[in-house]
Amino acid sequence: MPLDPDSSLSLYLQLADALAGQIEAGTYRPGDRIPSVRKLRDQFGVSLTTVLEACRVLEDRGLIVAKAQSGHYVRPRPPRPRSEPEQSKPTSEAKRVDASLAMKLNLGIGNPQEPTLGAAVQGPELMPIAALNRLLGHVLRHQPTACHSYDAPPGSAALRRSIAQRGADAGYLVGADDIVITSGAKEAVYLSIKAVTRAGDTVAIESPAYYALLEVLGSLGLKALEIASHPRHGINLDDLARALRDQPIAAVALVSNFSNPTGSCMTDGAKRQLVDLLDAHDVPLIEDDVYGELVFEGPRPSAIKAFDQSGGVLYCSSYSKTLSPGLRVGWAIPGRYQNAVELLKLVVNQATAVAPQLALAAFLDSGGCDRHIRRARLMYRNQMTQMIDAVERYFPETTRLTRPEGGHVLWVQLPDGVDAMDLYHAADPLGIRIAPGPMFSPSDGYRNFIRLNTGFPWNETTDHQMATLGSLVAERTSGI
Ligand SMILES: Cc1ncc(COP(=O)(O)O)c(C=O)c1O
Repeated sequence: MPLDPDSSLSLYLQLADALAGQIEAGTYRPGDRIPSVRKLRDQFGVSLTTVLEACRVLEDRGLIVAKAQSGHYVRPRPPRPRSEPEQSKPTSEAKRVDASLAMKLNLGIGNPQEPTLGAAVQGPELMPIAALNRLLGHVLRHQPTACHSYDAPPGSAALRRSIAQRGADAGYLVGADDIVITSGAKEAVYLSIKAVTRAGDTVAIESPAYYALLEVLGSLGLKALEIASHPRHGINLDDLARALRDQPIAAVALVSNFSNPTGSCMTDGAKRQLVDLLDAHDVPLIEDDVYGELVFEGPRPSAIKAFDQSGGVLYCSSYSKTLSPGLRVGWAIPGRYQNAVELLKLVVNQATAVAPQLALAAFLDSGGCDRHIRRARLMYRNQMTQMIDAVERYFPETTRLTRPEGGHVLWVQLPDGVDAMDLYHAADPLGIRIAPGPMFSPSDGYRNFIRLNTGFPWNETTDHQMATLGSLVAERTSGI
């Protein structure tokens, strides 16, 4: 490759351009070692100084890096940030729900020692286990009779008072008597939906939607109407308004903050508008807010309940995501449906176990909860960043993803034609769990989406699993 000694461009710049051209053409790829300075001297017939000058120019241009005792390497290209999925476009027909898919899949739930990308669960590092154990022991020792007796709805007064005090952070001002303790948020959602619907009714939901909500609708014989939703801002209110005009809708159900699976978070303006819209149609809202406290930065986003004047919002949450899913303690603030929800709670399982309620009340009062959540938010933010980086590093460039600002799930749109169920079946035997998109739709939609759990501290195994998953996606992309 001769250089031109008569050119006005100096030899070292000509050499730098020639090498840059080879890098551009892919002759040397990111991470490759370029020939040694001696070899370049011989190949191009120039002095060592000229080669060293050319290398310095390429380093300045960010194309190569020098490694001590080893030579020059093509700098790995920073991955291009991926775009986000577009607003969803579900069909506008209400459907009966068969949510049995989730039951058939292995999402890796139940063993917090083993990180999973499938189920939306957190690692033990994200739970204040030792403090909660101490308090459980304490209440069992000091209030043994209460802990072993039947409780009755609405549940422990001490816990309801603590929950009511914390409500101001989410913008709702309620008294302890407005709260019904439940066995997790799932039960709160189940009781709330059951309180406001009858079999055959239609419930409008965001799309994609949390799969356990689909299970509730299916088990109550309800139809789901999927409403278009934005991956960052949640449900589309124009589409919802049109649906409310066009057909009878018994209730709306959604996750207001850091939704599952997209991580979307409604703005305050949209929350207020939604309440006004539903009041105008006299339709109740079931608000699931289990992730609101897990905002990565700044104040916790408001609950929709904060804008509710008429009592039409049935607010549901729990301590499963913030403190411990195994204690099974959640709550509902059912507004004007309080009596109905209390009665249903009594019918279904009498009351939530007493010891976890008392231990959590003591933990909340001690200030331990706030300290834990402050620490957990930083960890969740870091874990989300690592997961987004891994998708950008290992998955094909046409992959899209959300950028949640809280919570611990990431919604990934695979390149066109890559089937999430096929990917699930390829990954499962390798011990890699993922939640495939069709779980989140009653109409088998989202076939090229997956949800990734970011609830565990990053480690080498997770990194390796993401690299493997990226290769599985790439294989399926090149086959298209
Ligand atoms: C949106 C949402 N709601 C509710 C739950 C379940 O909450 P709990 O364990 O308190 O019943 C989950 C768990 O993944 C969730 O993601």
